[in-house]
Amino acid sequence: MSPKYKFLKEQGLRPEKQLPSALIIGVKKGGTRALLEFIRVHPDVRAAGSEVHFFDRNYAKGFQWYREKMPATLEGQLTIEKTPSYFITKEAPRRVHLMNPSTKLLVVVRDPVTRAISDYTQAISKKPEMKPFEKLVFVNGSIGSIIDTSWGPIKLGIYSRYLTRWLKFFPLSQLLFVSGERLVVDPAIELKRVQDFLGLKRVVTEKHFYFNTTKGFPCLFKSEGHSAPHCLGKTKGRNHPYVSPSVLQRLRDFYRPFNNHFYQMTGINFGWT
Ligand code: A3P
Repeated sequence: MSPKYKFLKEQGLRPEKQLPSALIIGVKKGGTRALLEFIRVHPDVRAAGSEVHFFDRNYAKGFQWYREKMPATLEGQLTIEKTPSYFITKEAPRRVHLMNPSTKLLVVVRDPVTRAISDYTQAISKKPEMKPFEKLVFVNGSIGSIIDTSWGPIKLGIYSRYLTRWLKFFPLSQLLFVSGERLVVDPAIELKRVQDFLGLKRVVTEKHFYFNTTKGFPCLFKSEGHSAPHCLGKTKGRNHPYVSPSVLQRLRDFYRPFNNHFYQMTGINFGWT
């Protein structure tokens, strides 16, 4: 029990469940789990452990139901939830706005080409009979034909389209774009941005991370519920299948105009080439 919690409990102040004031809305395979696990190290942040899928699948259950899914918080603590499918759910911006127009929105973005391969890697791990990535990418299954923009892993990487919907309800200043690439290379820098955005003291710093060479990713020295150093689970940081340079090039060319549009909209050049 933290000293703050103990003190408040002694004062007779009981923790209560609150609707989230910040959401990690996406993107799928961007590094959303890493961001949630890293930010919840902060003593003033409490997070729902698993994805609640309220604004997409469970909206009809109502806000009372949603609140019940949240961890109890003390005054001054921030409640956060992450469900990456919110970013692409048509109704989500309006619904989140209805809950609270000041909700802070975090979006972890990653090069859409690698993101698509990561998405496919996850899908095939559940459905091994899937066709190879290089076939699914193209309408007729061959590199000579056009990119299949109806295929989920490809479609989801057109970030500017989805962002347009969110910007109809929220000002850009209420969204923070976290670089999925930098979250791997320098998590402390991204966490500094996140803490500033959420109005939190800069507590999570480089001291909390170490690079695990076996996993090839940054891991945490300790966090809530873990007193020992630990990394994210086996499903995070999977090996990707080989994709030929020519297919990668086709995908890069395909995404370039959409990426440029996204950079314009956000005012950030993520450097995906
Ligand atoms: P891969 O498994 O394809 O490498 P999400 O949590 O949104 O599903 O994102 C999963 C991705 O998070 C992983 O994709 C991995 O690249 C990335 N990631 C970022 N930081 C990580 C970390 N510290 N440990 C493991 N994976 C991390």
